[in-house]
Amino acid sequence: MSKDTHLAEVRSFYDSHPISLPQILEKLVRDGVDPQTLTEDTLQAYDQDHYSGVAANDALAELVGLAESDHVLDICCGLGGPARYLARHYGCRVTGVDLTASRIEGAETLTEMTGQADRVTFLCADAMNTPFPDAEFDVAVSQEAFCHIPDKDKLLQEAARVLKPGGRLAFTDIVATDATSAEKRQRLEREMAFAGLCTIPEYCQRLERAGLAVQKAIDLGEIWRDILIERLAMYRSLKDQTVERFGQAHFDNWDSAYAFFVDQYRTGGLSGARFLAIRR
Ligand SMILES: C[S@@+](CC[C@H](N)C(=O)[O-])C[C@H]1O[C@@H](n2cnc3c(N)ncnc32)[C@H](O)[C@@H]1O
Repeated sequence: MSKDTHLAEVRSFYDSHPISLPQILEKLVRDGVDPQTLTEDTLQAYDQDHYSGVAANDALAELVGLAESDHVLDICCGLGGPARYLARHYGCRVTGVDLTASRIEGAETLTEMTGQADRVTFLCADAMNTPFPDAEFDVAVSQEAFCHIPDKDKLLQEAARVLKPGGRLAFTDIVATDATSAEKRQRLEREMAFAGLCTIPEYCQRLERAGLAVQKAIDLGEIWRDILIERLAMYRSLKDQTVERFGQAHFDNWDSAYAFFVDQYRTGGLSGARFLAIRR
């Protein structure tokens, strides 16, 4: 598959994702939250599209020793939940970048609503090729997104380029294991828009090659297994909204793809990891 075809598939995957701006706004209203007085403290229960919610943001912040003076890049920021959280709870400035225009539009709308647009800004771009100047950021973070990016070397070189020397990159991602067969990879690539999944040792090699000295690589597979079982149940609880928005066939396809994905965590076919690396 060409790179452009793959990027189009990623955009389409997130344009029809069960978590979206309209879905969040609907849920807020249903839960009796007044959109006029929305704060990050309330929104954080709705807008995090990664595993372990805001605790995972704190884990990354702790790993990089996040300071108020840091300018943070959130690579593949989605609807901006982690960016808003880090700005609100650590006082830093955050820039989010994401490939999918509907994610960036959602991120900007929600950030306006929480009154954080002065500290949190967004840009629509491919993480393998961003318009940021060299050495712009003190810290870069990312969660559950690099699994979609086909050229991990290019991605990590780009992250290294935009970080200052001594800058810190902390991210979590879905990783392959020795039990990830070619058939499983193909199905995950087709159904989940993944590309070029790496094992933990492969990630470490690629980080080093990109000029990022690996400090930590923590296996999260066991923790994620239970979280993902709950997440599948959460997506199933959104069935009515998903069917109404995208149709029954889309829900059925999503459900089968996500159930297969979660099953890989039960059988060791996939794992998860959190990395810290320092720009040389
Ligand atoms: C699972 S979501 C994670 C969103 C966010 N990190 C969070 O924790 O809420 C993955 C995001 O990666 C983005 N993405 C995938 N490939 C990308 C690329 N090549 N460049 C930039 N963003 C990309 C998708 O558009 C999607 O918003």
